[in-house]
Amino acid sequence: MKYFFLSSLFIIVAVVSFAGFRGGKSELPPIQVFPDMDKQAKVKAQVSSDFFSNGVSMRLPIAGTNPIGYQMPSKPASEGLEPQLVEFSRSTGYYYTGKMGDFYGDGFPPEIKVTPMLLKRGQERFNISCAICHGAAGNGKGVFTKYSVVLPTDLTGPGFDDAANPAYRPDGKIYDTITNGWNQMGGYGANITVSDRWAIVAYIRAIQYAAKNPAK
Ligand code: HEC
Repeated sequence: MKYFFLSSLFIIVAVVSFAGFRGGKSELPPIQVFPDMDKQAKVKAQVSSDFFSNGVSMRLPIAGTNPIGYQMPSKPASEGLEPQLVEFSRSTGYYYTGKMGDFYGDGFPPEIKVTPMLLKRGQERFNISCAICHGAAGNGKGVFTKYSVVLPTDLTGPGFDDAANPAYRPDGKIYDTITNGWNQMGGYGANITVSDRWAIVAYIRAIQYAAKNPAK
């Protein structure tokens, strides 16, 4: 027992003299057991650099680079926001979130005109991003279901197009599911632009109509 106490005391003294008290201040660099890439060669924003011939550390995008998610505005924001074709999110309005205050909205926002062209676009985008799981007919029987225990929702079910059904999903809810996902389904907000998300919602409405009114 005596040796146990003595050796414990020795270990404590050794650790404290090596590592110092917790919270103690020191001018010396800390001992880093796991450096976690704290120190690395890098250039900081807005500083000069000898490495590049023009002496500027921040690099311009390569000529011809296409920005994803925004276009360069042509005038200051104080003169009003310009319509953007390629955007993933810009504000908290219905067009961007599918929500009106705390609730999902129903109907299409004024920015979206439901035209045959929009439906065509929605069909194309749905077939690219959603059909693998939900099936081209939206019935939840995409090829994915052969390999998975998680079953995609049947988008033609009564909870989708019957507003009297308590499980009814308004347009804004479907929009939000595309943006942020739902339960087991991941979100596609980073891959599908805002206007394409609405085009998909419109196409899902068309699928639902078609499921109820088969061509004769
Ligand atoms: C990788 C497979 C997969 C893809 C791709 C996918 N989904 Fe889903 N989706 C699911 C699954 C699984 C569920 C059921 C999630 C749950 O309830 O846990 C679901 C549920 C839904 C729901 C129902 C949400 C609710 O309110 O109950 C909607 C609407 C939906 N998906 C739309 C889409 C749309 C639109 C796309 C294409 C942009 C898409 N999904 C792409 C797997 C997928």
